[in-house]
Amino acid sequence: METVVSGIRPTGNLHLGNYFGALRNFITMQNEHNCYFFIADYHSLTTHPTPHDLHGNVRKILVEYLAAGLDPEKSTLYIQSDVPETAELYLFLNMNAYIGELERCTSFKDKIRQQPQNVNSGLLTYPTLMAADIIIHRATKVPVGKDQEQHLEMTRTFANRFNRLYNIDYFPEPQAFNFGNELVKIPGLNGSGKMGKSEGEGNAIFLDDEPEAIRKKVMKAVTDSGPTVPGQQKSEAIQNIFQLMKVVSTEETLNYFDDMYNTCQIRYGDMKKQLAQDMIAFTAPFRERIRAISADEAFVSKVARMGREKAHESAAKTIREVREIIGFKRF
Ligand code: TRP
Repeated sequence: METVVSGIRPTGNLHLGNYFGALRNFITMQNEHNCYFFIADYHSLTTHPTPHDLHGNVRKILVEYLAAGLDPEKSTLYIQSDVPETAELYLFLNMNAYIGELERCTSFKDKIRQQPQNVNSGLLTYPTLMAADIIIHRATKVPVGKDQEQHLEMTRTFANRFNRLYNIDYFPEPQAFNFGNELVKIPGLNGSGKMGKSEGEGNAIFLDDEPEAIRKKVMKAVTDSGPTVPGQQKSEAIQNIFQLMKVVSTEETLNYFDDMYNTCQIRYGDMKKQLAQDMIAFTAPFRERIRAISADEAFVSKVARMGREKAHESAAKTIREVREIIGFKRF
């Protein structure tokens, strides 16, 4: 059994891309491993120093994780700031994190370009905080996408450096959790690229979107001028529509529109109408559970408390041991 850690920044609702990308795998993983899934609210301050509804954003993700099928009895669902031991480990790791290696990090370089007016040291030390998140539970696996691989590599560097400096084999080297080919890429509705909340208005279908909103977004999805010769290669925008249909519609429906495309009889308006309908049906159970869970304040509080207690127990043990290893002693 592996110890798994994964964090998500509370910067918006979850969309179908999140669901098919990671969430669906978390739901399987929680049956097989010791999983910690947390909401990275400390991290969110590196880009949003004065969030207008921090608590509400955190709550939204918690509710949506539960609605998607994460089970608080099986995995530890917690909020990063509920476990301040993470911040203490971050401090220790920062003492041995070198400015040069932090400055070379791709995500840091991207961020200073995106927010030149706020190049704060939290941005620079983002990878140290992420390393603390992971090794505070002495995790062995981290389910990450390509964009987080460098952060994970830095986590290994910091963990190994700690072991070497204090001459002890304490932190394991966390590895990427490989989902293999179960990872389904979900394109957005803008005609290119993957589904994402930062990819522009109308690009993503959120798990809590109302049917009317889904219909509107799908009907506005980018298409092309249509095939002119039988069997014509599909443009990226059209491949995307087919890929979305593949995940929410029946095989029969998909094959029908594929045939219509290949014989140049397709009407994109009809296809989008069908896609919208199937997407609304697919997301209906999420919408209902989000609504029910969100209305149950006592349940949400109970889940947060359970997560806090379990995560704290694991983190406090690590911090106790790390303090001892470094040489801090109570008088
Ligand atoms: N950096 C991750 C992201 O932007 C979020 C994150 C923070 C994380 N701490 C983590 C992911 C620890 C995995 C493990 O997606």
